[in-house]
Amino acid sequence: MSALKLSGIGHAYLGRTVLDAIDLEIAPGEIVALVGPSGCGKSTLAHIAAGIVDPQRGQVARCYARHGMVFQEPRLMPWATAADNIAYPLRLSGARRAERRERMHAAAAKVALARDDLGKFPVELSGGMRQRAAIARALVVEPEFVFFDEPFTALDQALKRRMQDLVIDAAAAQSFAALFITHDLIEAVRIAHRITVLDLNGRGIAGDRALPGIPGAREDRTVFETVQHFLHDDPLFGHINDVDERKVA
Ligand SMILES: Nc1ncnc2c1ncn2[C@@H]1O[C@H](COP(=O)(O)OP(=O)(O)OP(=O)(O)O)[C@@H](O)[C@H]1O
Ligand SMILES: [Mg+2]
Repeated sequence: MSALKLSGIGHAYLGRTVLDAIDLEIAPGEIVALVGPSGCGKSTLAHIAAGIVDPQRGQVARCYARHGMVFQEPRLMPWATAADNIAYPLRLSGARRAERRERMHAAAAKVALARDDLGKFPVELSGGMRQRAAIARALVVEPEFVFFDEPFTALDQALKRRMQDLVIDAAAAQSFAALFITHDLIEAVRIAHRITVLDLNGRGIAGDRALPGIPGAREDRTVFETVQHFLHDDPLFGHINDVDERKVA
């Protein structure tokens, strides 16, 4: 059985169709990278899959107990410490104080947040630390599925790589499945088991490609060569950089 199954998903904003006939299945423990040009509907699809937005057409089947979400911006509560931000989902689910503390520390350890930093407020943390806290908040519920919507786009290269490794290690340790949205093919090839490409206009899935080996065990050279092959020889990736607003800006 799939962890997540989207069937015939269609959606429109103000009468303008942004997604149509999307079918996507993700197996338990499988990390799927979703790529596609800016504005093609990736975030909308993630919001529909996570139940934040109701699709106008189609069905979503979620066959997991708990999910977490990580967005491009950390979205931490500014008035709460890193520790309280991380533990927040546990508070919502009514966990007791001692259990909240223990699980918060376990989640913080997974993203290598130091004890000192847990008492700080978001404004006192660096960008990378804030994004770590956001990942810890997603992991604290011990999710079976995690939605990542371009979580590392705003970070510099070296930090990005460290954060990708944290996700790869956490996924291996907790064996969660994930939908990982990114613009960055290197990131997709490092993190995922499979890449799926959304059509330029959100009209269906253009195609998908299984990735060689397993995340975390791929050499840099393999990652580089796979990306070069996709960009130069594989028509599926021909439009991937077409409408990237951030590159135009
Ligand atoms: N709440 C909304 N109301 C109206 N239009 C929206 C809304 N959210 C998104 N859109 C439009 O729907 C389309 C798809 O947006 P979406 O954010 O899903 O794209 P995306 O692939 O995630 O883009 P990016 O890579 O830039 O994050 C865009 O044209 C966007 O302008
Ligand atoms: Mg988006």
